[in-house]
Amino acid sequence: MRYLILPEKVQARVQELADRISEDYQGKTPLFVGVLKGAFVFLADLIRATRLENLWVDFLAVSSYGDATVHSGEVQILKDLSVSVEGRHVILVEDIVDTGLTLRYLRQLLLDRNPASLRICVLLDKKERREVEVPVDYVGFEIPDAFVVGYGLDWAERYRHLPGIAVVDGSEAS
Ligand code: IMP
Ligand code: MG
Repeated sequence: MRYLILPEKVQARVQELADRISEDYQGKTPLFVGVLKGAFVFLADLIRATRLENLWVDFLAVSSYGDATVHSGEVQILKDLSVSVEGRHVILVEDIVDTGLTLRYLRQLLLDRNPASLRICVLLDKKERREVEVPVDYVGFEIPDAFVVGYGLDWAERYRHLPGIAVVDGSEAS
């Protein structure tokens, strides 16, 4: 296990994203929608780094991987939102965009519920893995095609608590 992105780099970038969001949503009360479980750490830091007077938070839980590192192509809603997005300025917050299947599905799901606006914010973008196009408005880091953990991201539920982004290289199997 080695860090691809050190904790302090993650924090600095989260602050930059929060600054942009604060400018873009000045005077509004956006609804941040975090995708569980992976996005919970990112979302928690992101909202605290904003300078917005008011914002709302809600969560969706999806499952698209099971414990495998290969995408099954299936997106399952395990927990839906608890507030309505109708007429709200929604910011969908996800840990990572890989094939794009999860975000494309969630984007359409939210758009069908008539938000006032919808933007997507991801910490990590594995661009070379994209299978379907999805517009992402705020990106923390573009990363190479490697399986990463930490800062909310897991490998079979492990390593979510690491403060930076690390690469799983096979030496941590047991
Ligand atoms: P996509 O639908 O292929 O874009 O995959 C998005 C989801 O796959 C993310 O929300 C993550 O939960 C998971 N994922 C993709 N790549 C990684 C990774 O490198 N580490 C951990 N989870 C990943
Ligand atoms: Mg996820």
